[in-house]
Amino acid sequence: MIPMDPPEPSITIDPSADLSGLAGTSLFYPCSGSDLLTPMALFAGKVATLRFVDRGYFRPGHQDTRHFGLDHPVAEARPIIPPAHEWSVLKKCHEELDSKDDEDDEEDYDPWRRYRGIASLTETYHHNPSGREFRLIRSNDDARRAFDGLNDPLGVFFYRGDSLGEGGSGILWNDARLMERVLGKLVNGGLLVTDGSNSGEGSHRSFSQHAPLLSAHAVRTAKQAGEKIGYSFTDFVGRRLTCIGYAGQRYGATLIWQVVRM
Ligand SMILES: C[S@@+](CC[C@H](N)C(=O)[O-])C[C@H]1O[C@@H](n2cnc3c(N)ncnc32)[C@H](O)[C@@H]1O
Repeated sequence: MIPMDPPEPSITIDPSADLSGLAGTSLFYPCSGSDLLTPMALFAGKVATLRFVDRGYFRPGHQDTRHFGLDHPVAEARPIIPPAHEWSVLKKCHEELDSKDDEDDEEDYDPWRRYRGIASLTETYHHNPSGREFRLIRSNDDARRAFDGLNDPLGVFFYRGDSLGEGGSGILWNDARLMERVLGKLVNGGLLVTDGSNSGEGSHRSFSQHAPLLSAHAVRTAKQAGEKIGYSFTDFVGRRLTCIGYAGQRYGATLIWQVVRM
C-alpha cells in the first residue's frame, strides 16, 4: 500500500446533481503526482476508468513521485489502496513502450534502471461500498500527448495543484485555448474539477473570462467553496457551467463544475 494523505473530510458533491452522464466514461487527470486519493474517493464507482498521467511515475528517484513510492519501476509498482479499504484490487497488468534496455544482459540487469520508455499500469479495482468495478490507469506519458490520444469518452477532467514554476508542468490547461479542447472533449453533463491552476492570460472571448471564478485567488476556503455550490454561468458558446461541489484545497479551493451544452 502506498501511504498518501487521505481526502479532506469536507469534499462534497451536491447529491441532487445528475451524474448519470458519467457512466462508462473516464476521468483524466494530467500532471497528477501523488494526488490520487481524492479523485478516487469522489469518482470511483461513478466513472469506469480513472486515468492519472504524470511523467514522474515509474521513473526511479523522480523528485515529484519518489516520496510516495510512485517512482517504482512499473513491474514493481504497488497498488493504491487507501486506509479505509474501500477498494480491493482484482487484476493488474502493465505495458512498457519504447524500452531500450537489453533484458538478456544479465550482468547489467538493474530493475531500477531498466525502463526508459513510456510505461502504463492498469489495475482493476472492486469498489466495496458501491459494488462496482473500475479501472485505474497510471501512465508516465507526456500529459498533452496522452490527452490527444484519449479515445474513451471524457466524463471528468481533474486538474489542480500545478504551476509555471519549478516542479510544475508549465502546461496551461486552464488557459482558453487548451481549456476549449478539454471542454470540447467532455461529454454533455461531464465535470471540470479544478483549482484554476495555470490559467495563463486567456483570451477575451473564452471560458477564461470566468477564470476569476475558477481561480485559486477567488475562492480559498471550504466555506467559500460551499457558497459557490449552485452558482452557474453560460459561456460564450452557450455551455452552462454549474458549480456542484468542492474537492478540497490545492492552490485554493478546487471546485467541481458540471458542463451542460444547451
Ligand atoms: C506541481 S506537481 C502537481 C501534482 C498534483 N497535481 C498535485 O496537486 O499534487 C506537477 C506534476 O506535473 C508533472 N509533469 C510535469 N510536466 C509534465 C508533462 N509534460 N506530462 C506529465 N506530467 C508532467 C510532474 O512530474 C509533477 O508531478
